[in-house]
Parts: sequence; C-alpha cells; structure tokens
Amino acid sequence: MVSAAAPQPTVRLSDYRPYPFRIPAIDLNVVVGDALVTVTAAFQVEPMDAVASTAMELRGVDLELVSITIDDQPLPQEAYSLTGGGLVIRNPPTQPFKLTTVSRLNPKTNTSLEGLYVSGGMLTTQCEAEGFRRITFHPDRPDVLSRFRVRIEADRQRYPVLLSNGNAISVEPLADDPSRHVAVWEDPFPKPSYLFALVAGDLREIRDHYVTASGRDITLRLHVEAGDEPYTAHAMASLKRSMSWDESVYGLEYDLDEFNTVAVRHFNMGAMENKGLNIFNSKLVLADAESATDGELERIESVVGHEYFHNWSGNRITCRDWFQLSLKEGLTVFRDQCFTADLHSEPLKRIEDAAMLRNTQFREDAGPTAHPVKPDAYQAIDNFYTTTIYEKGAELIRMLRTLLGPERFMQGMRLYFKRHDGEAATTEDFVTAIVEGASSDGQSLGFDPDQFRRWYHQAGTPRVTVSSQWNGEDGRLTLTLEQITAPTPGQPEKLPLVIPVLWAAIRPDGRPGKEHLLVLDQQRQTLVVEGLPPAVQPPVLSLFRNFSAPVTWDAAQSTDDLFALFAGDDDAFARWDAGQQLWKQLMLARAAGTPALALEARMLEALRQLLSQQGENDPAVLATLLAFPGQAELEALQTEADPPALERAACELREHFGSQLASLLQARLDAVASGLEQVWPAGQGERQLTGVIWSWLAAAGDTTARLSSVAAVNGASMTLARSGLRALQPLDCPERDQALKAFHDRWQERPVIFDTWFALEASTPRTDALERVAALLEHPKYDPMAPNSVRAVLGGLVGNPRVFHALDGSGYRFMAEQIIAVDQRNPITASRLAKVFSRWRTYGIERQAAVKQALSVLSDADLSTNTREVVSLMQA
Ligand code: TRP
Ligand code: ZN
Repeated sequence: MVSAAAPQPTVRLSDYRPYPFRIPAIDLNVVVGDALVTVTAAFQVEPMDAVASTAMELRGVDLELVSITIDDQPLPQEAYSLTGGGLVIRNPPTQPFKLTTVSRLNPKTNTSLEGLYVSGGMLTTQCEAEGFRRITFHPDRPDVLSRFRVRIEADRQRYPVLLSNGNAISVEPLADDPSRHVAVWEDPFPKPSYLFALVAGDLREIRDHYVTASGRDITLRLHVEAGDEPYTAHAMASLKRSMSWDESVYGLEYDLDEFNTVAVRHFNMGAMENKGLNIFNSKLVLADAESATDGELERIESVVGHEYFHNWSGNRITCRDWFQLSLKEGLTVFRDQCFTADLHSEPLKRIEDAAMLRNTQFREDAGPTAHPVKPDAYQAIDNFYTTTIYEKGAELIRMLRTLLGPERFMQGMRLYFKRHDGEAATTEDFVTAIVEGASSDGQSLGFDPDQFRRWYHQAGTPRVTVSSQWNGEDGRLTLTLEQITAPTPGQPEKLPLVIPVLWAAIRPDGRPGKEHLLVLDQQRQTLVVEGLPPAVQPPVLSLFRNFSAPVTWDAAQSTDDLFALFAGDDDAFARWDAGQQLWKQLMLARAAGTPALALEARMLEALRQLLSQQGENDPAVLATLLAFPGQAELEALQTEADPPALERAACELREHFGSQLASLLQARLDAVASGLEQVWPAGQGERQLTGVIWSWLAAAGDTTARLSSVAAVNGASMTLARSGLRALQPLDCPERDQALKAFHDRWQERPVIFDTWFALEASTPRTDALERVAALLEHPKYDPMAPNSVRAVLGGLVGNPRVFHALDGSGYRFMAEQIIAVDQRNPITASRLAKVFSRWRTYGIERQAAVKQALSVLSDADLSTNTREVVSLMQA
C-alpha cells in the first residue's frame, strides 16, 4: 500500500523540467466492487529520448498495486520500486511501449474529498490539483496530456448513472452478469489528468439542449439527487447564457456532443471544470428565488459561467505547471466578471469586485501568506487556490485591457486562443500573445510589457500617493504620483510597476471632465495638464475611476471634495469609493470611542439629499452607497486591529442614521414596496434597498421594521428572508429568536439551505455563543464530512467578532482545536480555515498572545502538509 508519506519537499518553479515521456493515450477500466474499486490503466508511452533509458516516475497515493506490466509482460520486482508518493520504473524501454497497472482503492475511507470518494451514496471524483494519483499511478502533472477512453463497470441498481469525460459511446448490461452494466466514454481532446472525472450513482437527470452558432446541437444534462429536480432551472438557464456569451464575445464554441453537470453535496470548493463533466458543490446548482438570495442566484450564474468558460481558458489551453495556475484562473475569473457585467450592471459588478478584492486579496497581500500571482515555490499546491491567484490575477488582465483599449486587447485574446490551443502554456505565453496580438495594428503599446510582467512576480498591494498643484488663472493642473509597495515575506525590495490610472477633473460647475489614462510606471512621476477651465478652487479629482488598478491610494482629498464626488461623480466606482472613504472615517472614529460628530452631521445631510425625492433614484445604486466598508478593510486602517470595536461602531452608526433618517427611510421603503415581488434579476435593487433600510430602522428600535423582518422569513423571497435575519441578528430582541426559529423550522429538511441556519446561529452575538457553537457541532443535522457545514459553523464563529476575538483567547483556542480535528479528515478544508489567524500580528498585545498560544497548539499537533505550511508561515 502506498500512502501519503512524510511532508513533501518544497516545489520550485526554477526546477521545472518537461516530463521525459509522452502519454498520448490512456485506457482506464474502472470496476466498482462492493467495497473496493479496481482500476486498470493502460498507457501508450513514448519516451522523449530514444537513446538513453530514463527512469519513469509515477505518483500514487493510498493505492494498492495489484500488478504492473510493460507490453503485457509482468515487470519483475527489481525493475520498479514503490516509494512514499508513488512508483518508479527504473529502466523503461527507449521505444514506445504499453504500460499497464492494476490497482485498488477504497473510496469509502477517503474523507479528503480528493481523488475518488463517496458522497451521499454516489461515487465521485475531484482531481485538481493532485487527486488523480489517488485513482491510479500516473505522473499527475498538468503538462502530460492524453486522450482518455474510460470503461466503467458497476452494479446497475446502485449506480444506474455512469459518467465520465467526453462523449458517451455506449451503455450496456454486462454480458455475463446482468445485475451489472458497463458504460464507455471517450474524450477526443487530449487533457491533463486533473481534468479527469468520473461519477457513478443513482441520480436524476434534467435534459436540455443548445444549438451552437455553427449549428451543432449539444445535449445538456444536469444530474442531481432524487427530489432536487425542481431546483435546477436556474443553473440550466445560466449554462445556456454562458454558452451563448462565449460565442458572441470571444467567438468560442463548445466542442463535444454533450455537456454534463453533476451536483455533489460533499465538495471542497465551489465547482470543477472537468472536461465535459463539470462537478459542482450542490449549493451552486440547487436554487430558486424562494430558496436562494439574489446574490446567490448571481453567484451561481457566474460560477456556472466560470466553469463553462474554463473549457477554453483552462481545458483547451491548460497550464504547463501549477505555478501557472493564474493563467487559467485569473483569465477565467476575468471572463466570468465580464459575463456578469454584460448580463446585469457593469458598474455595480465592478464595485462588488473592488469591495471583494479589498477585503480578501488586500488582506492576503498584507499578511504572512502573501504571494505573487505567479508564486515561485510551494509545499502544498492546494494552499495556492487563493484570491491572489484568482482575483488579483483577473485584475492584471483587466489592466492590460485598460492599457490597450478593448479592441486591441481582444486582438490579443484571439491570438492567445489560436496560438496555444491544445497546449500547456505559461503566463508569459499569455502576456506575449496579448502584446503581439494588440500590436498587430502597428501602433505602439503605450507601456513596457516587460515591466508589466513584474505584476506577476511581485507580491503586495502597491500604494499610490497623489498630490496636486493648481494654477487657477491658467487652468494648469500639476499632478505628482508616487508608488510604493511594502515588503512582503521573502520580497524585501520592490520595483515600480505599470499602473494604469484612470482619472478626471470635475469642472467648476460640477460637470464631469474628460477621462484620462495616466500610465504610472516610474516610482515618482509628474504630469502637467493644461487648458482646464480657470477657477479659483482647484478641480475635484476623480481618481482610479472604475478601479483601474488593484492598488490603494492616498490623495489627501478634502471632505468637501469627497462629499462632492459622493453626491454625483459620473463614475459609479469613484462615487461609491468617495462614500467609502467617508464611512471609513466615521467608523474608525466610532470604534475609537470618539465619534466624529461634525462629519456625522455632514453625512446626515448628504444622506438626506440622497434619500430625498430628487436624490438617487436607482435603488440598487442607493443601497450600494449606503453599504458600510468591510471589516477587513477597516481593520487594516486601525493602528491596532480591534474587530469587536468595529462591529460595535457599525451598530451605533446604523442606530444613529436609522433614527435620524427614519421618515425618509420609511418613504423609500414604501416607494420600493410594489417592486419587491418581481422575479430575479428584476427587483434586485428594491430588495437590496429594503434590506439596508430594515437593518437601519430595526437598529433604531423601529417595531414595524422588526416585525417586517420576522415576517419575511416565512415569505416567498429568500433575499428578503435573509435581509430580515441580517437586520435582526445584531439586536438582542425577541424578534431575533423568532426569526431564527422560523428559519430553522422552515428549512431543516434541505441541507444546502440549512447550512445558512448553522452560519446564522454561529454568528449571532450572545453571551453563551461559544457553547452554542460547540453544540452546533453535535447537532443531528450537522454533517462534519460536508465542508459547507464545517465552514458554516466555523466561518460563522469568525463572523462573530466578540466571541471569536474574546480577550481570554477562548474563541481562538476553540478554533485551533477544530482545525486540528478537520485536518485529520480533510486537509484542504482545514488549511483554508487556518488562514483565519493570518492577521494576528496586527491585533492588540493581549489578543496577539492568545493567538500565539492557539498557533502553538496547532503547531504541536500532527498536521497535514497543507495545514503545516500555513501554520508555519503564520508563525514565521
Ligand atoms: N478549478 C476549480 C475552479 O476554479 C477550483 C477547484 C475546484 C479546486 N475543486 C478544487 C481546486 C479542489 C483545488 C482543489 O473552479
Ligand atoms: Zn476556475
């Protein structure tokens, strides 16, 4: 038996060597027995070097090798050896040969949710990044591409549905045992092992079809557990929208005869783009307006799109090695962001993404697990499925578009998809293709591509300082910009990056000026703008419009300027951001116990304007302007991060503005009431605004708002139900318990939705909250094998600042113990959870000491490579 061995050594980008063998074709025979699964793998192998024999290394984890032959001849014992992580064949032939291994594995004891495992009675797989080695002996690296033919044999009753990648060739009863059947699948496109998938189970099928632009009729099959069929329409519709979007925007069509999607309850991440057989966390498939919020419906649509778009950005063009992960993830996030923007609101999507980047990626970049979009070393690759690889990676591509303009950028994209189709490529290949494609018009680029590439290698969030000088008589504006990136672990020195700065000067009459692109590529740079309308007052600057770069900035803008932008900048992002800067000042002051009274009074006035009849009339925009900055962003601005104080500040401000603005808020509530029942995506803004107003009014003690919030839990819209719960959650009032109980009673039979109840319970501030969290882990509906449940409870606890950050360290200790327990069964989920401690060095001294203890409890435990890597970084 080969099992997971000693900690893996560090893997380095600089050590990359091509695999010395090609494996153009793989035949897999997967025989599902009562307890064990037997896999016979026949590889067609072509040595690269036809002269000297090179040892052939294959990976294998938790596999029992039954037999191994070369060209059908058993391999003698001394010709190979089984090592910790696999199998080495010492002197394989130098001419093409056939390698056949037979191995056995036990999917029932596999709790890692990698490789082949059981979820609710069905067999399913997850191979990215390195799960294929738990299915059969194989190099299991993304630069080895093979055509797969898969035969699956299993009991007909227990496993009526047998799926794998590609096109279905046949399904037939087994000749000599009619209680069993056999399915054969063939995938004509060579693919790396991480895109392999297999599903066997008792699933119900929802079938539809899609006709491509060139007229090919594709069968779309969605597979769910019995009883879940009514909740599949949204995912299916999202898939068709994705197929059509990729055709119309990128000219990319689907390439197989059928497209399968399976919903799985036990899944480590969101979803997986296996060729022709996408596998989804069931929470990202099963949804309708009654059981999912507007936000969740949009997220499902975007993840369905994301996985579908991977068919080209990831599958047809894959990654040479895992250091190139952002090649497929950054690009596919960029594509799914554009998809959502095109289908819904481009400016609001941009604001959502900017807020998310600031609160997750900026936090990662500022802590011990900071790494570049293209890392140069790792221990466990699973730890690098991060917001830096995904979302910052997408920002780099977006900056290329901003720098080149949309047309030239698309020329580059077209070249990329054409040039590298069928290959395992690198991020350098990508940038080169974009630059060459864009330059095909003979025009200069407008920036230095080599300098731009630094973005891929340099971790940390750059900070830009902007100062300006105004000559009012001549209308001359002098802007000085300076960029600096703070050191990150292992990268003390930083070089200047290419930063696109979209900006505009608001005219004296308040009208927006022309938008300019400034390419900041020096450490310090000065720009003189002539010909602005002369005026005494300097123009108000609208900076980093549309969030043109993933940076922070300090422009020392006056309160007057910020309120002017907040009232009416024509760039939605810059307008929202001006408000965010003001909210930040207000919240930080409240958190410090010294409310900024004058500024609060001005904000009150600004909000009165905004809420008045002549104010903002798009409810979604209004709700967005009223949304507070995220906790993580605020923590980063405190000298000593104090999450409970920030939570208190938010409560106080809701109460304050809720009571001061009660009648205007009530009027707005009445104005949107008639739109609440519209079917998504219609009515989103109305519901979003209703939620914000409920939370403000409920905080201010308004009984009607509290009662509406409770009533919503039993209503027809999950969006309103959850808004009601969110409004009541911070308040210690009887309505809160009524609402939580109603939610519990209504949804207890639907595990995917009931996870929300776990999260709500765990994040409700109560004096006995920690005991309640511990009790949730013993709840009969809590499933410790489902990462969704684990994250609901433990993530919920983290979202309960007073409890998680209790000064006595009880929250931290509890979390450390739970991470150790989760790590025993599921290292991927455990190591992601361990990152909750990553900001500990910014806390006050007492909390630092408490986290330090929790980390040493963790570190003394017998941890997986994944969790060990994260804990060590945090202790360093
Ligand atoms: N490639 C997947 C995506 O971006 C991510 C993923 C799904 C994954 N499951 C995983 C990554 C398991 C690591 C481990 O959609
Ligand atoms: Zn992805």
